Amino acid sequence: MSLVLKDVRKSFHQGETEIEVLKGLNVQIEPGQVVSIIGQSGSGKSTLLSILAGLERADAGDILVDTVNLTPMSEQQLTLFRAQNISIVFQQYHLIAHLTALENVMLALEILKMENAKERAGEALKELGLGHRLDHFPSQLSGGECQRVAIARALVVKPKILLADEPSGNLDTHTGDKVMEVFFDIVKKHKITTVLVTHSESLAQKCQRTLRLEEGQLREQ
Ligand SMILES: Nc1ncnc2c1ncn2[C@@H]1O[C@H](COP(=O)(O)OP(=O)(O)OP(=O)(O)O)[C@@H](O)[C@H]1O
Ligand SMILES: [Mg+2]
Repeated sequence: MSLVLKDVRKSFHQGETEIEVLKGLNVQIEPGQVVSIIGQSGSGKSTLLSILAGLERADAGDILVDTVNLTPMSEQQLTLFRAQNISIVFQQYHLIAHLTALENVMLALEILKMENAKERAGEALKELGLGHRLDHFPSQLSGGECQRVAIARALVVKPKILLADEPSGNLDTHTGDKVMEVFFDIVKKHKITTVLVTHSESLAQKCQRTLRLEEGQLREQ
């Protein structure tokens, strides 16, 4: 699926002050393209991903996924569209606390009524080096382990679009490299349109294209 932003704007109001975070973003991402987004802390990268996912509304502008415009959709329509097409790896993981690692990943498959949820979830976790942590709850996992569960949950459903916010930010170099190798293998094999937010220049360079978010604008790097 392609992703197109047309003059997307977003501000936050904090008391008297208005923070203008996105000042009219225009970009076209082709189906299956793997794009990294870099930019300083606070530049609006996570805000942009939330808007792309339809989790947050832009103040103005349009977000088109293929020919579908997300802007006029109701919350219900957005939720359904997201469930069917988009996976997100959040910066803060957002795992479900009362479900084990395995159950967190299984749930993603079960929502979409996919078969063999347990086997597929187990395999996805094993691929990310978590075969020995299947029955642990998020509170019993390290930050990097939670991050890998979140990646497994996002990838296991083979979404059309993958939005990932610093997916290896909490991993040591060696584990991060291994996890991102699996990540890139899967997105390339399944031609998943991917937007990867990262602070790592070397990771950004592994993507087909890099965009820098700076002063509320997106520029080709
Ligand atoms: N709900 C909100 N209310 C007010 N301000 C917000 C809100 N969400 C984000 N901001 C502000 O918008 C700016 C961009 O935030 P965002 O989280 O998108 O940055 P980021 O580029 O992802 O940063 P980081 O690299 O640290 O994750 C920040 O200055 C932040 O304080
Ligand atoms: Mg962020």
